[in-house]
Amino acid sequence: MSLQRTFAVIKPDAVAAGNTGNILADIEANGFKIVAMKKMQLTVAQAEGFYHVHKERPFFGDLVSFMTEGPIVALILEKEEAIPAWRALMGATNPENAEAGTLRKKYGESIERNATHGSDAEETAAFETRYFFNAMEMV
Ligand code: RTP
Ligand code: MG
Repeated sequence: MSLQRTFAVIKPDAVAAGNTGNILADIEANGFKIVAMKKMQLTVAQAEGFYHVHKERPFFGDLVSFMTEGPIVALILEKEEAIPAWRALMGATNPENAEAGTLRKKYGESIERNATHGSDAEETAAFETRYFFNAMEMV
């Protein structure tokens, strides 16, 4: 086990529904330290860059419109094995398949409008962290 950081997003559906506070409370209750946090409105170009790995996927256009429809909260979270631990707390991509108690089960609406994002590997965590935050914003 080693202390690790991951990149997370509270997506526009969850922010608009007033679930920012609930999700932040769940994050802290599950032992994650919030290393960086900011609320922001992504432009289309910024959302396309963030999700560039999905640009050939059929849902890419819808995903970019969803991620730009309202503000998000971007976070860096720290915990032992934070990358898999955060993926586990989020639950399956489709809230219908997510386990009880996970964030996507509690706050997600559909496979696309699924409340939260989490990096899936060390390389993506490194890219996504630098995409959103500079060193002075991490405390
Ligand atoms: P994320 O990257 O947001 O943490 O989600 P994930 O790893 O669980 O899922 P991924 O395959 O990376 O998909 C990224 C996001 O695209 C939307 N999506 N829509 N309409 C669809 O079939 C579909 N599939 C995925 C979701 O918002 C998903 O989280
Ligand atoms: Mg993903």
